[in-house]
Amino acid sequence: MYQHDQAMRRHFREAAARRGFSVAPEQEHAVERLARLAAELARPAWTFPKRPRDLYVWGPVGRGKSWLVDTFYEGLPTGRKRRLHFHDFFRRLHDGVSGPAARHDGQSAVDSALDGLIGDSRVLVFDEFHAHDAGDAMLIARLFRTLLDRRITLVTTSNYPPAGLMPDPLYHHLFEPTIRLIEERMDVLDVTGPVDFRMVAAPRSPSGGGRRFSTGLCLAPGAGAERALGLTVPASGEATGVQAHLRQLPARAVRGELVWFDFDVLCETATGVPDYLTLAERFTTLVLDGVPPLAEASADGRQRFANLVDVACDRDLRLVLIGSDPLADLPAGHSLMRDLDRTASRLAMLQRPERV
Ligand SMILES: Nc1ncnc2c1ncn2[C@@H]1O[C@H](COP(=O)(O)OP(=O)(O)OP(=O)(O)O)[C@@H](O)[C@H]1O
Ligand SMILES: [Mg+2]
Repeated sequence: MYQHDQAMRRHFREAAARRGFSVAPEQEHAVERLARLAAELARPAWTFPKRPRDLYVWGPVGRGKSWLVDTFYEGLPTGRKRRLHFHDFFRRLHDGVSGPAARHDGQSAVDSALDGLIGDSRVLVFDEFHAHDAGDAMLIARLFRTLLDRRITLVTTSNYPPAGLMPDPLYHHLFEPTIRLIEERMDVLDVTGPVDFRMVAAPRSPSGGGRRFSTGLCLAPGAGAERALGLTVPASGEATGVQAHLRQLPARAVRGELVWFDFDVLCETATGVPDYLTLAERFTTLVLDGVPPLAEASADGRQRFANLVDVACDRDLRLVLIGSDPLADLPAGHSLMRDLDRTASRLAMLQRPERV
């Protein structure tokens, strides 16, 4: 048991060093707790009559929560483990419930979709846990019940403390039973450090531990900057349809693993997270042209853009924005869209070369 703690602690230090940083004081508690959990999970279930306690890691954006749980996940011996991102979880549940693979026998469609998602895992890492509407509340409550019934250990990250989940007062009461369950069953770890690590210049690690997302760009329009970066504006003949989740979307160009879209196509028509996930499976660079000042986009357009940025960051897609810098001239306060600080923290990682 002792060796497993030690191995996981060492794994954390090495993973941080590969990225050119060290574990921050506010992360130590989580590292310690995750190392203990790794040791508990390494024991055969029959020697461990009580199921290990679940962990709920929360804090403001950019404090390294996803890094902590992803590193933990990577360091667990292979086998019965799963990592799911919030967006992915809902896409797969919806596919399972209503998609072509849906089952319509005695077992409820939600339960069989959950079965498929969880498989025979003993530990489930669920990144970016949040809830915003009644549908989320129902699916998450179901997920929790299934995990408890099957003694599966859950490790989640969130920007919200449990009591702050489902902030909309209209729906909050629907989520209260799940909040009570979280508070009873999970150890809640707060990793609120003083800095958003995305806002500080990330040191380039010698072994190239950087991520593709942080090589993304935010460019003013004008062929100069685009050409300088090897991005020639697509000719009209390059326009082509690209298969997204359940539809074709008109792209300006496809060049190998790069796809070029207009903002209006990707964010101002009825696209959704499943489409972005499908694109992220096929492409490694996504150019979004004609990005307006966010305050001028429609409310739905802004929310889609935020979801797209979330997916790009999670799936490590290189995002190249051409147009207005969405971070410039943001109106004060958070009324522009939900979770604006999440989007801003991610967009701060994009490089902004000299405008020419
Ligand atoms: N101790 C650290 N020192 C410096 N950088 C760090 C440290 N821990 C994590 N990071 C880096 O900070 C960035 C943000 O981390 P991460 O994505 O895990 O944040 P997060 O807390 O999940 O944010 P969000 O709530 O927005 O999802 C990543 O590039 C990560 O590698
Ligand atoms: Mg995160």
